[in-house]
Amino acid sequence: MADKSPFKVRYGSWGIVAGASEGIGATYAEELAARGLNLILIARRAELLQSLASKLSERYKIETKIITLDLADPNAVEQITETTKELEVGLLVYNAAFSAIGPFLERPLKDHIKEVNINAFTPLKLVYFFAEQMLARGRGGILLMSSLSAFQGSAYISTYAATKAFNIVLAEGLWEEWRQRGVDVLVCVSGAVKTPNYVASEPEQTGGLGDMTMTPDQVVGEALKALGKGPYVIPGRINRFSSFVMRHLLSRKVAVKLMGGILRGMYVK
Ligand SMILES: NC(=O)c1ccc[n+]([C@@H]2O[C@H](COP(=O)([O-])OP(=O)(O)OC[C@H]3O[C@@H](n4cnc5c(N)ncnc54)[C@H](OP(=O)(O)O)[C@@H]3O)[C@@H](O)[C@H]2O)c1
Repeated sequence: MADKSPFKVRYGSWGIVAGASEGIGATYAEELAARGLNLILIARRAELLQSLASKLSERYKIETKIITLDLADPNAVEQITETTKELEVGLLVYNAAFSAIGPFLERPLKDHIKEVNINAFTPLKLVYFFAEQMLARGRGGILLMSSLSAFQGSAYISTYAATKAFNIVLAEGLWEEWRQRGVDVLVCVSGAVKTPNYVASEPEQTGGLGDMTMTPDQVVGEALKALGKGPYVIPGRINRFSSFVMRHLLSRKVAVKLMGGILRGMYVK
């Protein structure tokens, strides 16, 4: 019997997770599969994608497709749209990101451009393509990942934070444009999350406030719960509180300096 769960009716029958092979992305994939969506899983590492796809199709009786590509590639979106042209894509989750950590000029220009490509240019193109179909159907969802670093300038990850600010402002604007046309747009503005990528970045500390890192399960759970309820979500009570202080109680200049101090402590050895 067909699964008529409200989530599947609103966001099915296929969901895309761009950046699905591990961590937050793999958790999105599992949670969407549990809600009955068929999945298109995208990342660079084929073996990880294949084993995730096999596990999810067996466990949740869904269909899966994997697309192995680099989202920095200028042809990435064309490859994705070609593979999905026969499918009804009702949900797009753009999770992949690239972060070039370190003093701005100590990273080659190509790294900054890669951040813009993976974090802003490719999601913009995917949103443009899939939103058109969703609006024509009068239903669907788009979920973009952003970061608390994007609420103000963030030293040592300046370009990354700027690309993530692009996602916040883009999602908010589109939420307002489409909220009465059946398409839900959400940006998840996350604090630190224990993912393989985050651990590999070897952060020294998180600003003397103890371990504030969340798990992918917590972040994804809060994001999916918020989808359809408003333009953005900040997972975690401590993150909501600290971002309230940073944005509403401190001057922007102080917030930028404070964030710079935290990041210097974490990453400038
Ligand atoms: N982790 C945190 O502390 C944190 C904090 C705030 C916001 N966020 C946001 O949360 C999202 C996920 O975070 P995360 O990076 O920690 O990772 P994640 O979800 O654990 O993994 C990133 C995924 O993206 C894929 N990916 C990365 N670059 C790609 C590329 N060029 N082409 C195709 N796939 C690519 C990776 O797979 P392959 O390597 O197999 O390609 C992997 O599956 C990002 O948007 C990030 O900005 C994370």
